[in-house]
Amino acid sequence: MTLGIGTGSTAQYAIEAIGRRVREERLIVRGVPTSERSRELALENGIPLVEAHELDAVDLTIDGADEVDPSLDLIKGGGGALVREKIVAAMSRRMVVICDGSKPCAVLGAFPLPVAVMPFGWEVTRRRVEAVLGPAHLRMRSPGALEPFVTDDGLFVLDVRAGAIPNPAETEEEVKRITGVAEVGLFVGLATSALVGRDGGHVEELLPRRAAVPSA
Ligand code: A5P
Repeated sequence: MTLGIGTGSTAQYAIEAIGRRVREERLIVRGVPTSERSRELALENGIPLVEAHELDAVDLTIDGADEVDPSLDLIKGGGGALVREKIVAAMSRRMVVICDGSKPCAVLGAFPLPVAVMPFGWEVTRRRVEAVLGPAHLRMRSPGALEPFVTDDGLFVLDVRAGAIPNPAETEEEVKRITGVAEVGLFVGLATSALVGRDGGHVEELLPRRAAVPSA
């Protein structure tokens, strides 16, 4: 199988577990990492890698999320890897989200929405994002740092206090139309299931709840 290798503290557990199975059970897989950090971790754990441009599709991506709504639409990008994560998710036949019980929510938007923007003229882009969504803060390298956080692809990230996002597909489209925006951390219709770790080690599987189609 070709696996999309997610990014973040939860994805790290998956990388370690896959690596264990590669070593102990000789599992035959190759991984497409969604960040430089995950590339390093995958290599340290003995997972053979392949580049996205060498593939037409990925069989399964396993990745974390910052928020998961009942349709399994997601907010991602808390770790800043949203662009590569979305490219890999969009070329995947299946995407399984792994998270703890703090991530599922009724409506997306309590978590600040990450928006990756071109560094050139980022202040202009920020004003346009704010006009559509709400207050946007440039992410810094660390709290109190004077230098902006820069993604693996040389982009800046705006963290946007959008409030409730009842229609993620519409919001995604609206924000992506803004010149200077590279990607928005809304993953709509990409996740096929979510595995939620509950207290006591129990794992709950969530499937997307689709809106009912009105009968003719
Ligand atoms: C990385 O850019 C993110 O999309 C992560 O997948 C997300 O922030 C979840 O991370 P944790 O598993 O660390 O909460």
